[in-house]
Amino acid sequence: MSYRFDIPFDKSEFGEDFLWGTATAAYQIEGATDEHGRGPCIWDEFVKKKGKIKDGSTADLACDFYNRFEEDLQQVVKLGLKHFRFSISWSRLLPEGVGEVNQEGIDFYNRILDACQDLGIEPWLTLYHWDLPLALEQRGGWKNREVVDWFAAYTQVCIDAFGARVRNWIVMNEPMATAGLGYTTGLHAPGRMGLFNFLPVVHHLALCQAEAGRLVRNGVADANIGTALSCSAVRPLTDTPKDLRAASRADAVMNRLFIEPALGLGYPSDVFPYLANIKKYMLPGDDDKLKFDFDFIGLQNYFSVVVTHSYLRPILWLKEIPALERKKPITAMGWEIAPDGMFDILRQFANYPNLPPIIISENGAAFEDKLVDGSVADVERTAFFREYLAAILKAKRQGVQVKGYFAWTLMDNFEWAVGYTARFGLIYVDFDTQERIWKDSAKWFAQFLGAEEENA
Ligand code: NOJ
Repeated sequence: MSYRFDIPFDKSEFGEDFLWGTATAAYQIEGATDEHGRGPCIWDEFVKKKGKIKDGSTADLACDFYNRFEEDLQQVVKLGLKHFRFSISWSRLLPEGVGEVNQEGIDFYNRILDACQDLGIEPWLTLYHWDLPLALEQRGGWKNREVVDWFAAYTQVCIDAFGARVRNWIVMNEPMATAGLGYTTGLHAPGRMGLFNFLPVVHHLALCQAEAGRLVRNGVADANIGTALSCSAVRPLTDTPKDLRAASRADAVMNRLFIEPALGLGYPSDVFPYLANIKKYMLPGDDDKLKFDFDFIGLQNYFSVVVTHSYLRPILWLKEIPALERKKPITAMGWEIAPDGMFDILRQFANYPNLPPIIISENGAAFEDKLVDGSVADVERTAFFREYLAAILKAKRQGVQVKGYFAWTLMDNFEWAVGYTARFGLIYVDFDTQERIWKDSAKWFAQFLGAEEENA
């Protein structure tokens, strides 16, 4: 299945009130991991382990955003983007995860908020983008139910510190990645492996998602509260009942696991009975505690997947057919370029009755960018953005409520397990000199958004 989208289109077709922004995450850009009282997080420990990060790199410096945020925020303005999403490093605020607050950490984020204010940028604050304080991992991390109290206390610190000046709150970023990559396959920090971790971690993340929502609702006047979920259109390899059921199971895990409990629908064990075992980790009253009335749902879509039934993979009984094998166009991550998947997944979410408006809280692609004579001719990235935006526009025209789009990401940065080998930025970063260079896709974006006229 693949659709053709009506390109070209104009920014105005998205509507005057459509939000345009770019998203980042603390660990991927800040650097300064050891400065001004910051405590270690699980990634600081993980990157030190042999073979965990593709290029053996660390995020000790990353983009040095800690020192360069003013210039970087100026770039946001130059791109014509009015919204900036960033995350708070939990261990910068609470070096031990709980307890004593590090004022210097709070000061840093206040400086970012000051700069946003001066530049007329609307800040979007993510509370958790994968960097659990190491001290808490040593107490069981996301597997320990006490994390709900730890996360609540941390959330309250953020509310007290920033609630008067930040309206837009994203409580979680891709909780599925924490449960799946962090605690099941071990490809991400903290690198724990084993399916027995999966269900308790999912449940604790889902509880935190809702609980943090409630705290922000109570503590921040007029807050706009969301959660950011990864999602991917899932297709069966064939139409056999086995493959169709495999696709439903993959869909339950990849797309339904965190939205449905929040909407009051419980965990999606209808198509994947194994998920009913999550009850073992539930206490009386949890069904209600999982619910929260979000103001928006952040969706992050990068690729589609095709799955087939497999007897070799117990529990899920399925395997994914890589895009390369299917001879589909791919990004440098090996992910299928599938704007039709974006369209389908938007339609799928829009089918939930009472779903709050959607914001695309991340979307973007890594390609083999080459800096030649001071430019990066990333034609593929521009094409990617145009195609995905066209898919979003098509869904919008059909009535799906999409209110905004955050490009992932402002500049090349530390891409987790693959280090600096995958470049997702609109802006190229020379990691030897920290020089920032606009890729052609950034120029296209700025033009599309009419940045030049606005900044003139
Ligand atoms: C989603 C994550 O939120 C972000 O941190 C990551 O860099 C992008 N996907 C690209 O992999």
